[in-house]
Amino acid sequence: MSLEVIEKIQRLKAQRNAVILAHNYQPGEIQDLADYVGDSLGLSIEAATTKADVIVFCGVKFMAETAAILSPDKTVLLPEIHAGCPMADMISAEELIKLKAEHPEALVVCYVNSTAEVKAESDYCCTSGNAVDLVASLPAGRKIIFVPDKNLGQFVAVRTGRDMVLWPGYCPTHVRITVEEVLATKEKHPDAVVMAHPECSMDICDVADELLSTGQMLKFARASDARTFIIATEVGIIHTLKKQNPDKEFYAASEKAVCPNMKKITLEKVLWSLEDMKYKITVDQEIASRAKASLDRMIEILPA
Ligand code: 13P
Ligand code: SF4
Repeated sequence: MSLEVIEKIQRLKAQRNAVILAHNYQPGEIQDLADYVGDSLGLSIEAATTKADVIVFCGVKFMAETAAILSPDKTVLLPEIHAGCPMADMISAEELIKLKAEHPEALVVCYVNSTAEVKAESDYCCTSGNAVDLVASLPAGRKIIFVPDKNLGQFVAVRTGRDMVLWPGYCPTHVRITVEEVLATKEKHPDAVVMAHPECSMDICDVADELLSTGQMLKFARASDARTFIIATEVGIIHTLKKQNPDKEFYAASEKAVCPNMKKITLEKVLWSLEDMKYKITVDQEIASRAKASLDRMIEILPA
């Protein structure tokens, strides 16, 4: 059944000159099907540079919106229109405008997990993979408003020592992982390296050996001499970690760390998406051009 669906997807993909991009949290069969699998930063770059006419985005809405902003001449499809990110919806453009009025001297950095309207109100966008480098590169002494993730913001503030105003947003999936679970898994696998995503709560960041974006976790695991790893992020990434490192062992810090929105994408929905060219993600032109400026500033200062 799924072989038949995959064949149909491949045929339609060629006909439409489409590319399939997938986030590291997607279900395993979607990651296996995709032309490119990556973190938010890698996916943004891929979306900005692809030669395809159609981008089928297997992820959540803010990611497809980012692709549409970076590639306004391409058709961007999200196979499931209800695949949203609750964290991205935790701050509105109106709330950010009010916060800016309270701190008129501050520069605004928004995490890529945000709506196009919030990006349009920001000076810089960042991902978990470059947030520290981006904030560190900003003029010394300038206050920084960071939205919407308080955990990533706190991690950046500690690493850079900058004066930051944090918005109280958070990822409902990452905060489900508890420090007790991380420590209990570590007790079973004492030699394991604990890799945590900076969207995790502060107590987990304190016990982790490495704080990394999902793309950085994949790179770290490939290069490391360690054989065993504990993963404190959404469990979907373990699929690719195991695939790329068949001789190493990976344990989820918590089996509860499942992002329900990421898991809304299925092979059938990818097929229907290509068949009916749905759901097209578009962004109002004026908002898109202001949001693009904050994304372009991020892409300009990428770490090597
Ligand atoms: P990265 O893949 O960029 O680390 O982001 C994690 C995330 O939660 C995306 O929604
Ligand atoms: Fe949003 Fe968290 Fe899901 Fe990422 S894992 S898409 S931040 S809810």
